[in-house]
Amino acid sequence: MNYRDIYEGWKQDPEAFWMEAAQAISWVKAPVRALNDDNAPLYEWFTEAEVNTCYNAVDRHVEAGHGDRCAIIHDSPITGTKARISYAELQARVASLAGALRAKGVEKGDRVIIYMPMVPEALEAMLACARLGAIHSVVFGGFAANELAVRIDDCQPKAIIAASCGLEPNRVVKYKPLLDKAMELAAFKPEFCVILQRKQEVAEMIEGRDVDWHDFQDAVSPAECVAVKGDHPVYILYTSGTTGAPKGVIRPTAGHLVALNWTMKNVYDINPGEVFWAASDVGWVVGHSYICYAPLIQGSTTIVFEGKPVGTPDAGTFWRVIAEHKVKSFFTAPTAIRAVKREDPKGELVGDYDLSNFKILFLAGERADPDTIEWAQNILGKPVIDHWWQTETGYSIAANPMGIEHLPVKTGSPSVAMPGYDVQILDDAGHPLPAGELGAIAIKLPLPPGTLPTLWNAKDRFQKSYLSSFPGFYETGDAGMIDQDGYLYIMARTDDIINVAGHRLSTGGMEEVLAAHPDVAECAVIGVSDQLKGQMPVGFLCLTNGVTRDPGAIRAEVVKLVREKIGPVAAFKLAVVVDRLPKTRSGKILRGTMVSIADGKPYKMPATIDDPVILDEIKTALQTIGYANR
Ligand code: COA
Ligand code: AMP
Repeated sequence: MNYRDIYEGWKQDPEAFWMEAAQAISWVKAPVRALNDDNAPLYEWFTEAEVNTCYNAVDRHVEAGHGDRCAIIHDSPITGTKARISYAELQARVASLAGALRAKGVEKGDRVIIYMPMVPEALEAMLACARLGAIHSVVFGGFAANELAVRIDDCQPKAIIAASCGLEPNRVVKYKPLLDKAMELAAFKPEFCVILQRKQEVAEMIEGRDVDWHDFQDAVSPAECVAVKGDHPVYILYTSGTTGAPKGVIRPTAGHLVALNWTMKNVYDINPGEVFWAASDVGWVVGHSYICYAPLIQGSTTIVFEGKPVGTPDAGTFWRVIAEHKVKSFFTAPTAIRAVKREDPKGELVGDYDLSNFKILFLAGERADPDTIEWAQNILGKPVIDHWWQTETGYSIAANPMGIEHLPVKTGSPSVAMPGYDVQILDDAGHPLPAGELGAIAIKLPLPPGTLPTLWNAKDRFQKSYLSSFPGFYETGDAGMIDQDGYLYIMARTDDIINVAGHRLSTGGMEEVLAAHPDVAECAVIGVSDQLKGQMPVGFLCLTNGVTRDPGAIRAEVVKLVREKIGPVAAFKLAVVVDRLPKTRSGKILRGTMVSIADGKPYKMPATIDDPVILDEIKTALQTIGYANR
């Protein structure tokens, strides 16, 4: 069957489509109905079924006789280590860890925060929680203590599982002091912490609260897989919203299993036993879906890579890992390819490796610019496939389904809607727009299995953020168009979220930090175009009347503040002091116009602007930091 037939088949009978896909999952109690629309416009899938995620990702492969198959390859060019873990070993390790967690009181429904770098133990911790029906929430290592504290207060975990440190090429990131600080800041107090000591940094333990990863597993009985209902959350993953308070995206167990398993073959063209690699981080949705769950659910081999596209040790690292571990499909962010291109513009390092097993490069996480795609295609001689998705959906909304059919690639487009998604372009009033016209990208409800049913502790926020603008639709927050052939083009965000090196960040969250500085009266943060990272945040500060301190010192202080409050991942390094911010007569800051000025793009003078002269002042300020020069 070709893509069109499959998509049309889904559209005619979505429930039958997903019931068929559900047959690839091993159920404790098989689903009898797919969609639950009892509480529409809130939807759930496979509500009455019973199942366990860890069983599907690990045990069932061992029971099927594949215990010797490699489940996880760990490759860390930073520490110089490589290791392989078979499905049977993974089963023993996860069952033991789950047993130890259970012995300390972790049960079905309890939350557990995981704060770990790119080591296999991070996946083992996720799977151990899933084994017990405990709900994990992984926090990215590049976030500051304050962000960790916000998540502790929101999901109220019984335990935190952390490593002593993460490793960036230029420094050891000590997780333990960040964890201790977060525990101090949070109003909610988890009962205990499990610490994986890494030899690069042995953390000091707090007596009575912290237990050692290995010691606490001594003499415990391994835990079996606990069945949960289909709609039970397997995890909560916090992502940026329009304010500093992150949104806790809930991932429902059954839909997650069914949908991710479907994508492995149909989107990524991977078969069980083949090697799939997503070079992301377990702290992001790509890491959840495609480093941990999807490859393991399918019974293929995944790679946990602790390194960077460049500098660990060079721009040939990706090609080395692909060749050495016989990767068939590889997934990364366009920014990573741009970093490689900058270091090795002719792609000469590709020639050092045998890439004969490598078939397809997949890109997502931010807009894939045509230059980057074409460059990668040329140096690799393989298809380069852009695909579009979000933390909220957990897998691709639009893609070129390489396991079904190689559709023609249109550079600049992540191709076509996947089964499950009726994607439409709407005008401000919610009317569908014709092909080729720009508008808000919305998805007709219900969303497919595995996508967020709601937000943790925030049902109203879920409805307000996603369902209120266009009744009957999910609002993606992206703007774009669909062409005559059904190809989607993702052009911009409709909110104040920016994308820095494939990391989703809230400028609103950064503004909250800047505004808290005692000398700052008013501020704005915008995302300006950056050749490497896609976008970079720039802060504009209006100082409080009477402040006579050196503006340079204040700029340095706010840069430090954002690093301390949000974390290094915000990559907030540029701030300028201005007298006033450009606003409409009703007081709305003209962020879009400021972005155009920074990027040297033409813009229309907003009709409602309060005082046009301010735009010249903004331009001059931006020129002092190297922008607005074109
Ligand atoms: N733990 C702690 N700190 C981290 C971190 C982690 N897991 N990941 C990144 N950081 C830090 C970096 O060290 C850097 O700190 P610095 O300001 O002290 O230099 C800062 O956060 C910004 O990181 P980032 O924006 O990722 O830039 P980078 O300098 O590390 O380089 C590139 C990243 C440019 C090489 C980029 O191409 C890349 O690979 N980005 C990651 C893409 C990705 O995986 N996206 C996920 C979605 S698919
Ligand atoms: P995240 O939730 O971190 O995965 O970020 C999701 C957002 O990243 C989307 O809403 C888009 O704005 C952007 N994004 C992800 N993939 C793509 C893509 N292929 N093309 C354009 N933008 C993308």
